[in-house]
Amino acid sequence: MKVHLVVAHPEQGSFNFALHKTAVEVLEKENFKLTISDLYKQNFNPVAGRNDTTHFPAHDLFQLAKAQRLALLHNSFEKSISQEQQKLASSDLLIFQFPLWWWSFPSILKGWIDRVLSSGFAYGKDATLAPKKIMYSITTGGASSEEELAYYQRKIDGLYQDIFGFIGWQILPAFIAHGVQQKTDDERQLLLQSYKAHLVKNVIA
Ligand SMILES: Cc1cc2nc3c(=O)[nH]c(=O)nc-3n(C[C@H](O)[C@H](O)[C@H](O)COP(=O)(O)O)c2cc1C
Repeated sequence: MKVHLVVAHPEQGSFNFALHKTAVEVLEKENFKLTISDLYKQNFNPVAGRNDTTHFPAHDLFQLAKAQRLALLHNSFEKSISQEQQKLASSDLLIFQFPLWWWSFPSILKGWIDRVLSSGFAYGKDATLAPKKIMYSITTGGASSEEELAYYQRKIDGLYQDIFGFIGWQILPAFIAHGVQQKTDDERQLLLQSYKAHLVKNVIA
């Protein structure tokens, strides 16, 4: 199994990185082949636009999806995009590690989706990328009731469906670590153990 891990957090000492390192440790132990995109460390540009490709006619009305399809045809994506697409193409499973920000992805990760999961490559008629498996590992500000937990679950299901459901990938259950900033060190260790068990159950088994 080849796994591509995308981590979107500005702080290497964060709980997000503790979860990311746990995934790397667990999957390497199984001899899975891993590639990693640490978006902040790479200074990944999340802003899609004309500079993403070199073949879009200078005087035409710019349309991102059209530019992406042309770039695929002419192999003319900006380097940071084609590098990410290559990592994705050679993997079976994609894992996103991110904190929930405004009920969504941090913008650096949203931009990765906009620019890397391009039209004609990841979706659309005759898309060239074979469908993969996807798993989210998410931290949140915390839920304090059953209703809130259900609300988070619905939001996260939506984040899956609107992207990976739409493009037809196999969605694995998300690992959700709630309220991590309020947890004690012992509680954090328990969460990391739960994440290991989640990976064993949903990815390795
Ligand atoms: C810009 C921003 C937006 C946030 N939005 C949400 C949110 O919509 N829902 C939520 O539960 N927590 C939200 N939070 C809290 C983060 O999810 C939480 O701080 C993070 O998951 C903790 O993980 P970390 O310690 O690894 O950063 C937000 C935090 C920031 C900075």
